[in-house]
Amino acid sequence: MYLEPADEAMLAGEQGETRQKLLEILVALGKVFGAERLVPVKSAQVSGASYKTIGEYGLLWLASLDARAVVPAVLNPIGMPRGRWQEMGVDPVFAEKQQAVVAAYERLGVRLDCTCTPYYLYRTGYGDHLAWSESSAVSYVNSVIGARTNREGGPGALAAAIVGKTPCYGLHLTENRHPGIVIDVDADTRNWSIAHYGALGYHAGKLVGNRIPYFRRLALPDNDRLKGLGAAMAATGAVALYHVEGVTPDAKRCRYDCTGLETITIESGEIEWLFVNIPVDAVAVGCPHCSPEELGAIAHLLAGKTIKKPLYVFAAQGVIDANLATVAAIERSGARVYADTCMVVSPVMEQYSAIMVNSGKALAYVPDMCGAVARIGTIEDCVTVATS
Ligand code: F3S
Repeated sequence: MYLEPADEAMLAGEQGETRQKLLEILVALGKVFGAERLVPVKSAQVSGASYKTIGEYGLLWLASLDARAVVPAVLNPIGMPRGRWQEMGVDPVFAEKQQAVVAAYERLGVRLDCTCTPYYLYRTGYGDHLAWSESSAVSYVNSVIGARTNREGGPGALAAAIVGKTPCYGLHLTENRHPGIVIDVDADTRNWSIAHYGALGYHAGKLVGNRIPYFRRLALPDNDRLKGLGAAMAATGAVALYHVEGVTPDAKRCRYDCTGLETITIESGEIEWLFVNIPVDAVAVGCPHCSPEELGAIAHLLAGKTIKKPLYVFAAQGVIDANLATVAAIERSGARVYADTCMVVSPVMEQYSAIMVNSGKALAYVPDMCGAVARIGTIEDCVTVATS
């Protein structure tokens, strides 16, 4: 793999041991995946942020590093809201460990936004090369924005943040972004909710594996619906990029010829059966973290109501700060809007036996990560269940 002279010097240790070791990781990744060179990245998004997922060894590794990010780097959700962890009921022992993880990342120059939706906070454009790691964020920027990133592991994304480059292979290359399978959606999708798109992604992800799907016959979904679709496909499959005919930027610009590709048809019945009515003891929305529009819809639905079951709403702190009146309206009902964390990575959610969500990704992850049964419903149904 070709390295520029400055990279060779870094690899020889001229910029310290941490940069040397992290560049070694990037070079090793590049060799494994056949990269011919490194490509500068505009930003990084670093997973491996919750103490629940990285544990003591992850913390020790982070604490051993000594360098700072040279491109904007954002942290993935952690196990608790940094400013409100006592209120959420987080164990102080866990909180202390989580704070140590956050401090380690802060020392490395990683911004503490702690979100899977950094695209709401930092401008990301078509064609930008990135090193992002959270699967829904990767799917969104590749598919909805048209930026270019592989799904990095936490160490790979951190290495890219500190080196400022990533190996140029996979989805960084135009030729690897072509569709690999066509999905015909044989349903009237005009009134489909975000949850329906999440359920579609939950089902489609299992069918397509790691191929790049090209969706046909979807009724012009908005970005929140695309967010739900991609997040779920990345959870049940390994989908880091998808195209929607007439909607997503690469599908519009590249006019892919899908002749000869395997085509599968998904009918509405394959989606509807997922919406089963089972009792739950908590409701959680914001997977991926809520957009301003989603917060607005939740506030509207909760107006004049009081919750009878815990209702958690998750969003990036920057989105919360820009929508304080909306957040206050939600919280007047007794619901809580938390930043930095989510229903999957926070250990607090393990106290519940059944959780209702409006996300296909959460539907996939809550059982294993929280030990709870998961139920999917529309945001309207989530609010109804939480308030009755
Ligand atoms: Fe984000 Fe947590 Fe869902 S990281 S995509 S809210 S599982």
